[in-house]
Amino acid sequence: MSKKITIAIDGFSSTGKSTLAKQLAKQLGYIYVDTGAMYRAVALYAMQNDFIKPDFFDKVGLVNGLSSIQLEFKFNSDLGFAEMYLNGQNVETAIRTIEVSGFVSKVAEVSEVRAKLVEQQKEMGKNKGIVMDGRDIGTVVFPDAELKIFMTASAATRAQRRFDELQQKGDDVSYEEVLKNVEERDYIDTHREDSPLIIASDAIEIDNSYLTREEQFDVVLNLVNEVINAV
Ligand code: DC
Repeated sequence: MSKKITIAIDGFSSTGKSTLAKQLAKQLGYIYVDTGAMYRAVALYAMQNDFIKPDFFDKVGLVNGLSSIQLEFKFNSDLGFAEMYLNGQNVETAIRTIEVSGFVSKVAEVSEVRAKLVEQQKEMGKNKGIVMDGRDIGTVVFPDAELKIFMTASAATRAQRRFDELQQKGDDVSYEEVLKNVEERDYIDTHREDSPLIIASDAIEIDNSYLTREEQFDVVLNLVNEVINAV
């Protein structure tokens, strides 16, 4: 059997990180972890407990509440991936709304939130055989990952993809609103003090503005095979 490696996928929002990570995990029989879902679940918890609203953020309240947040991924064999549970409740749909997207970057700026989630993520990857996507996987969570991918695409391309997804789900939202959210999150994610989104020096950058999912998958699978054969 080939040696198991750690695959870190970072990049801007809506660059298709999770699609690629799910494809790779399925192909390789690896665990897939969507760390954005964990930050989204914490943002949902903050909203449910009135710690965050437009123009209001009770960071101390959220930090004090962190010990009562239990996050868990449970594999759904019908969907073929693990769904996010917050304190025993399936929140997979609830964490994907535009409201949660509007608050999540602010929640992800809080160092105590990051420390808690990073600890859990490191634990999940300790036996390798994992594909994890996020913003700080190759830089903070798994700096020694054998393969690091950094995904980019133009803001307009990404907003269009997210807009199409939300429309399909019946979310009543305008393209302009989605583009604004994408640009705001890019700004916060790249400018925050703790673990900003930066490309790791040993990451391979892939701009998928003009790549189909299949083309992108082929490119990355070749990279994975090269790395696995070399370790
Ligand atoms: O990948 P996503 O759009 O679902 O992520 C939601 C937010 O969570 C994103 O705006 C930044 C934050 N995030 C982060 O700070 N670090 C990660 N490892 C993953 C996500």
